[in-house]
Amino acid sequence: MDAAGVLSPPAPAASPLNDRRVEQVIERMVDCYARPANGGPVGGHEYDPHAYASFGFSVHPDQGELMYLLCRALNARRVVDFATSVGFSTLYLAAAVRDNGGGVVIGAEIVPAKIATARRNLSDAGLSEFVEIRAGDARETLRAVGGPVDFALIDGWPGESGPSLSLQVMQVIAPQMRSGALVLNDNAESDYLAFIRDQASGFRSMTLPLKGGTELSVKAA
Ligand SMILES: C[S@@+](CC[C@H](N)C(=O)[O-])C[C@H]1O[C@@H](n2cnc3c(N)ncnc32)[C@H](O)[C@@H]1O
Repeated sequence: MDAAGVLSPPAPAASPLNDRRVEQVIERMVDCYARPANGGPVGGHEYDPHAYASFGFSVHPDQGELMYLLCRALNARRVVDFATSVGFSTLYLAAAVRDNGGGVVIGAEIVPAKIATARRNLSDAGLSEFVEIRAGDARETLRAVGGPVDFALIDGWPGESGPSLSLQVMQVIAPQMRSGALVLNDNAESDYLAFIRDQASGFRSMTLPLKGGTELSVKAA
């Protein structure tokens, strides 16, 4: 509390990962974080994901830490990571699966150079054995993930027209999620939000004040 009696925010907690090896890879990636000079695909300049092979477009570390805690709470053993990019979200998800006693993070990524970078980052963090990255279009590669999904990240990519990639991938993943599974969406695509907020979808949803709006939803049916 300051002299005027106003409550000051507490200092942020230390990372819940509690693993220096993983945290060092995360810190290295945060230090290298860059945005493309053209503004990127959201700026509407170039949608081809192959044009951005060196850019992560990664989730915020706060979102990563939240996903780690949610996966621990769920005792998540099968997790979907759409998309992998250079492996930033994957690090948090794989650390949670490892700390739960084992399982698999199934990632999807269409740019081969990003898959190579993600594999290096996961190897440096000691988490490779908990991750399977499927190369190609997630709308195909995630059609059968091998069992009930406990947690999914839907962190998609903009397109020029038609349904968003996030909605299309969610429609592939939703039937594979167990009752009580959680899904977190980073980019708040309007058609994704319309789907997930419609209780006919079987989900219940809320918006968290993280990175300008992060949608967290539970498969309730
Ligand atoms: C926002 S980034 C994901 C960031 C990642 N979750 C992280 O935190 O580091 C979206 C990724 O989707 C990939 N992508 C675009 N279209 C795809 C598709 N059809 N299938 C799979 N991946 C795709 C892009 O190459 C890009 O790396």
